[in-house]
Amino acid sequence: MEIIDAVAGMQKKSEEIRLVGKRIAFVPTMGFLHGGHLRLIAEGRRFADVLIMSIFVNPTQFGPAEDYEEYPRDMEGDISKAREMGVDIIFAPSVEEMYPVEFQTKVVVERVTQYLCGLSRIGHFEGVATVVAKFFNITKPHFAIFGQKDYQQLIVIRRMVKDLNMDIEVIGVPTAREPDGLAMSSRNKYLNPEERESALCLKKSIDMAHALTKEGERNANRIRSAIQGLILSYPFTNIEYISICDSLTLEDMDAVEGECLLALAVKVGKTRLIDNCLIRGKD
Ligand code: PAJ
Repeated sequence: MEIIDAVAGMQKKSEEIRLVGKRIAFVPTMGFLHGGHLRLIAEGRRFADVLIMSIFVNPTQFGPAEDYEEYPRDMEGDISKAREMGVDIIFAPSVEEMYPVEFQTKVVVERVTQYLCGLSRIGHFEGVATVVAKFFNITKPHFAIFGQKDYQQLIVIRRMVKDLNMDIEVIGVPTAREPDGLAMSSRNKYLNPEERESALCLKKSIDMAHALTKEGERNANRIRSAIQGLILSYPFTNIEYISICDSLTLEDMDAVEGECLLALAVKVGKTRLIDNCLIRGKD
């Protein structure tokens, strides 16, 4: 496994790989690897000859009051996990390498960023779209692998790739969960044992939404209220949003018809957790 930290070095390497006709899969991450990231790597391996993973905690996608400084980092651990999973190349640039002082360009995806996490995390998706566009130009992938755990991020990236005619196939991978159902996340590390118990309210909400729609409930407000009651019955919880929305435009829906997205953001103590699932009104 090779570790590259220079943009020019990574571009040269990717060009060489392409010139011999090999296919590249790219998995962007902010490191502190867990089972969710490893699932993306496994998926990427199925599509390509060479798997490139980036590890970069991207400062531009964190708000001023967010956890950029505290975000967990473990480069040594990540390197050994990546090696075990058969990653071919880790691209791990410094902040200065990605954002030299003269840097001044942003990628803005307009409408799908106006909902859900975009409402509270101002500038977050500009930071994500910009860094991912840069990574695409640096690693030159044929396939890019993203998790459905960050559903809105996946939608934003798909939109950007389409709108800017990037010749890359974006692949979404289902959410990896702990045995009790909690979606894996680098931020789970912040939870103390009592908060860890309360964090289960997100998966329980998903289970409740499936049960209610299976019973025939189609009213989005009633489903939202039931989930709100459930979440608030757990200690330390503070709801940011419970949204039942169109799975492509992310616009709120009044009725569960066809395929809808249930998306949740809940603070458990100080830790902000998200989760989501697709729910079906009719088969
Ligand atoms: P990060 O949070 O490290 O996540 C990297 C990738 O792993 C994302 O595509 C995310 O959706 C996926 N992922 C995280 N938890 C997952 C889980 N439990 N199951 C399946 N996939 C999961 O998302 C980012 O980093 C950044 O925004 C990034 C795209 C790297 C841009 O900086």
